[in-house]
Amino acid sequence: MKIMIVEDDPVSLALLKKNLSKTEAQLVTARTGAEAWERFVQDQPRIVISDWMLPELSGIDLCRKIRDTETAVYTYIIIMTAKDRKEDVLTTFEAGADDYVAKPYDLRELNARLNTGKRIIQLEDNHQALQKKLIRSRTKLQTVFDALTEEIISVDQNINLDSINKAAMKIMRGTYSEVVGQPCCELIEESGDTFYRSNLQQLVQEAFETRRTNRVLDRFRNADDQEVIKERTLIPVMSEDGKVQTVTIVSRDITDAHQRNEEIRGLNQKLKKISSELIKKNATLESTLKNLERTQAQMLQSEKMASIGQLAAGVAHEINNPTGFVSSNIKTLGDYQEDLGRLIQVYQALKAALKAMPSEALPEAVLSLVDQAETTEEEIDIEFIQQDVNELITDCREGTERIKKIVEDLKHFAHPGEDRMTETDINKGLESTLNVVYNEIKYKATVTKDLGDLPMVYGFPQQLNQVFMNILVNAAQAIEKSGEITIETELVDQMVEVRISDTGRGISPEHLPRIFDPFFTTKDVGKGTGLGMNIAYNIIKKHNGDIQVKSTKGKGTTFIIQLPADADPGEAGSPDPAMTASA
Ligand SMILES: Nc1ncnc2c1ncn2[C@@H]1O[C@H](COP(=O)(O)OP(=O)(O)OP(=O)(O)O)[C@@H](O)[C@H]1O
Ligand SMILES: [Mg+2]
Repeated sequence: MKIMIVEDDPVSLALLKKNLSKTEAQLVTARTGAEAWERFVQDQPRIVISDWMLPELSGIDLCRKIRDTETAVYTYIIIMTAKDRKEDVLTTFEAGADDYVAKPYDLRELNARLNTGKRIIQLEDNHQALQKKLIRSRTKLQTVFDALTEEIISVDQNINLDSINKAAMKIMRGTYSEVVGQPCCELIEESGDTFYRSNLQQLVQEAFETRRTNRVLDRFRNADDQEVIKERTLIPVMSEDGKVQTVTIVSRDITDAHQRNEEIRGLNQKLKKISSELIKKNATLESTLKNLERTQAQMLQSEKMASIGQLAAGVAHEINNPTGFVSSNIKTLGDYQEDLGRLIQVYQALKAALKAMPSEALPEAVLSLVDQAETTEEEIDIEFIQQDVNELITDCREGTERIKKIVEDLKHFAHPGEDRMTETDINKGLESTLNVVYNEIKYKATVTKDLGDLPMVYGFPQQLNQVFMNILVNAAQAIEKSGEITIETELVDQMVEVRISDTGRGISPEHLPRIFDPFFTTKDVGKGTGLGMNIAYNIIKKHNGDIQVKSTKGKGTTFIIQLPADADPGEAGSPDPAMTASA
């Protein structure tokens, strides 16, 4: 550390220099006040040890001059003098000296005071360095603050302005140095931002009390009468002891952002509306599609039914005519046979009478005819014929009756049907449907019927027959070689219950819930449409009924249909795709 010794007496100077050079490396000397000042300016010593009494410029004046000069670093000044009056000591300190050493000096004391000086200089240097750092970071902070578009001001508890950034300066009257330290409310331009004059005080007070950051939205009209929206964030700034020192208020103009938000919100709402409309439309489309699929399926099936109906009606008509005359001829034949029988009886009586007469009494020709009649009777076994003819006629009658019945069933089954519900006899429907599909069934299954006494059901008979047919055909198809099909009907709790069971291959549990789905089939491509059960389901639902399936793989399947007994359901219920299936 550079030390300057100022002493006019050469002996004292030499002695002092000698003494101090033992501990100090950088010593500068001067013998007059003026020389001392020159050296001071040139060498910038950190410690000056100066005699009071000096030629040209006294040590006290040198001291004053140094203190009056702005220096980069602090200089520690020790005045040495033989003057020891109290006023002299006071004069020394008033002139700006840091210490005072009485002459003649004691070297140890001087060294001790020098050390104190060095310590103080060190502290002073540290302090200066810290201050520089502080200033640098303050400047940095201010630069950042100034670069921000947000208005930032800091106020103390009395709402005096502590600091302010460039953006906020725009709404202030005066320069930076003019406004800092002044009451904030009085500095604001009459621009229209009323916040600083109206709400600030209360919010700052709250921030001091709650010590919490607060955010408020503020709307006002500016000088051009346009609405401005600002977001104000009040941040309490605390010292180490946790006390709020200042409150920093950051004001952000969010008018544009707010407008954009509003626009986005509006657009979002529109979007939501559109998307919900889309979802609705989609749902409608989906259900329309499902309905279409169903309708298509039903149409397919009804077309099939219609063509079966047409065919059956044609066949029935064609069969009806010949059956009619066969049946009436058989009746006539029966009558004829009766007449002929009676005649044969007369002939036979005549023959017996002739035979009882003596042969001489009869002409040869008659005798020959009697013999011929007898032989012919034996040959043709007239007794058998007479008995058999009756049986044959009875059989023929039965046959034609059966033909009539089948034709009736066909007509009943395939009748185009009315377009409104009518009283329907379920047992009759089952019987005629069974007769129609019997050909499909008879080689594979024996059919057992247990049909109970049933009230009428209000419905579309042909459609219900279609359900029975679909179930019966499936049942027959499920039986590999031979099995049983049981048809039972019963009135259960005012519901007509139809159960159709088979001993076929059954339905696997994973297929069971899909049995009523349109187009679900386990049959080979081209063999099954997978519509039979779906149509059955829809028809039963239309009749406000229920259809369920129970099945055990490998053992068989039972379809249970329940229909409201004798009830007029009014408007037919719309088909519901939801289904119940249980294993
Ligand atoms: N009684 C039954 N036993 C075993 N499986 C059955 C029975 N009834 C229906 N299924 C199963 O349900 C499926 C669907 O039957 P559905 O009658 O709807 O269509 P499909 O019989 O396959 O075709 P289609 O009826 O057009 O001939 C069948 O493929 C079959 O797997
Ligand atoms: Mg089927």
